[in-house]
Amino acid sequence: MPSNLRKQTFNITDMDFNLTEEHLMIQQAARDFAQQELLPGVIERDEHSKFPTEQVKMMGELGFMGMMVDPKYGGAGLDSVSYVLAMTEIAKVDASAAVIMSVNNSLVCAGMEKYCSEEQKMKYLVPLAKGEVIGAFCLSEPEAGSDATSQKTTAIDKGDYYLLNGTKNWITNGGTASTYLVIAQTDIEKGHKGINAFIVEKGWAGFEIGPKEKKMGIRGSDTHSLMFTDVKVPKENRIGADGFGFSFAMNVLNGGRIGIASQALGIATGAYELALKYSQERKAFGKEIFKHQAIAFKLADMYVKITAAKLLVMKAACEKDEGKDIAHSGAMAKLYASEIALEVANEAVQIHGGNGYVAEYHVERMMRDSKITQIYEGTSEIQRIVISRGLV
Ligand code: CAA
Repeated sequence: MPSNLRKQTFNITDMDFNLTEEHLMIQQAARDFAQQELLPGVIERDEHSKFPTEQVKMMGELGFMGMMVDPKYGGAGLDSVSYVLAMTEIAKVDASAAVIMSVNNSLVCAGMEKYCSEEQKMKYLVPLAKGEVIGAFCLSEPEAGSDATSQKTTAIDKGDYYLLNGTKNWITNGGTASTYLVIAQTDIEKGHKGINAFIVEKGWAGFEIGPKEKKMGIRGSDTHSLMFTDVKVPKENRIGADGFGFSFAMNVLNGGRIGIASQALGIATGAYELALKYSQERKAFGKEIFKHQAIAFKLADMYVKITAAKLLVMKAACEKDEGKDIAHSGAMAKLYASEIALEVANEAVQIHGGNGYVAEYHVERMMRDSKITQIYEGTSEIQRIVISRGLV
């Protein structure tokens, strides 16, 4: 093998996808932010389930909370590729900050920009896109997680307003959000065509936030159940035409899955980079452990999986930027990236040996954090449903 090839080291984050100067600048800005602002407290926030309040505020100031929103609505006006690059860099270091960012960007802001009225956008989207407040997307219920058409939350038309009753579960940003997009059944007879989406504000009478969930991972993000008892939602807060809510939720989730795929890709990349570094420093049986094939082969497999995931995530992002239907490509990206994130993080722990099991080496947290990417915004099983339906 020529010596220049032998010496070549792979750097996943710099892999060439014909990125523009602007893409590279955004990637670098996110990388710098993650290293300087997220890394220092990430272990402590995980240990104490502490929300990264200051860091999320800074993310808003840097334009990371409304990345794809038109500047006229307070956003940064960037493309999905930029969003994937930034999300990946943030998730490499702090997967909790990444999911807070993902829900705000690709569920709340993207959904509002595409489907809300001008009045709704000026009132609610602008502060969300600027990162002055954050949003939550409320679809899941105790009995309607994967089976999203089985909504038990009801919104009864009372003329000027809807009366909202029900419970939502596992809501990311549930306690910290100010603006909630709530999906509810308005006409049970019509099935999924009798579902609507509403903008609900924190503090409205009858809207209660349940205790913070104690979670396996992404402990820096806050997850809550939400209870609505006779909450009056003004008619003008319904999103789109009557009966549009399920279609709204499905279309928003198609884009959201690119965000979670990027989060998973980031966790995998972060774990791989730590394991690669560790393997070149740690010695066993008289040499660096990377020089043992048992370890080098693990790293080779991790690298291949990450590269394949990255190709899928970038494909979905490029297709979104081209205005294509991304239900299929988003589901593939999310399915594969989330599956390999857990595998790669698990191997990173293994390569670290005993050190991998303690917090200060980060990889045990990454392994715990990775699991949720196979569950939220549609489990792996749901992604397979979406993918298989697109095959015929
Ligand atoms: N994109 C666009 N439209 C879609 C769609 C998609 N991916 N999937 C279904 N639809 C449309 C269908 O075309 C159909 O519309 P029409 O009747 O007008 O043709 C309608 O939705 C109903 O479709 P189905 O009959 O196929 O519905 P189904 O009951 O079989 O379920 C499902 C479809 C794909 C399984 C859907 O229920 C689903 O995606 N479930 C998972 C929900 C989910 O991701 N939950 C995560 C919660 S959000 C979250 O996690 C946020 C957070 O805090 C991090």
